[in-house]
Amino acid sequence: MAFIRRTIIATASALALSATAVLAQTTPPAAPAAPAAAAPAEGGDAAAGERIFAQCRACHQVGPTARVGVGPPLNGLFGRKAGSFPNFNYSPAYRSLDKTWDEANFRVYIRNPREVTPGTRMVFNGLRDETQITNLIAYLKQFNAEGQRTP
Ligand code: HEC
Repeated sequence: MAFIRRTIIATASALALSATAVLAQTTPPAAPAAPAAAAPAEGGDAAAGERIFAQCRACHQVGPTARVGVGPPLNGLFGRKAGSFPNFNYSPAYRSLDKTWDEANFRVYIRNPREVTPGTRMVFNGLRDETQITNLIAYLKQFNAEGQRTP
């Protein structure tokens, strides 16, 4: 009896071992991480974007109490017509811009504002890092036209 019981236990543990081996073999290798620079804005890190926005805050405000400063408030920026914030005195380069802000044209603009809008009063050299721009977009996109944060 004892011999049979030992044999059964031995067989069972052998089976368990081989099952583990099979599992180990069939587990696929971890997928390589996607390069950060190619991440779409939806994957942007809004908290990191808020830190980038520190470079804009001297001139631009966001949020429910945002007011005109050196530059116009940036609430609800995406989908807003360029140069259209009420009561902001834009330079001629902006008044003649015929475009609506979207992710693609914002990316081009923020890399080099003076090239896109010659004569602009926005004194800012531009952001070169694509990940920083992606994160900044994720941050700005949180604010609707009233400055409320939307999820
Ligand atoms: C030194 C002040 C200053 C800084 C810093 C600055 N801006 Fe501006 N920005 C302006 C001014 C002034 C305008 C209006 C430009 C004009 O009329 O020539 C403007 C315009 C804009 C516009 C166009 C708004 C519209 O209503 O069409 C966007 C978008 C913008 N800025 C984004 C940014 C972002 C993002 C940053 C930070 C990364 C930034 N700016 C940093 C002063 C600034």
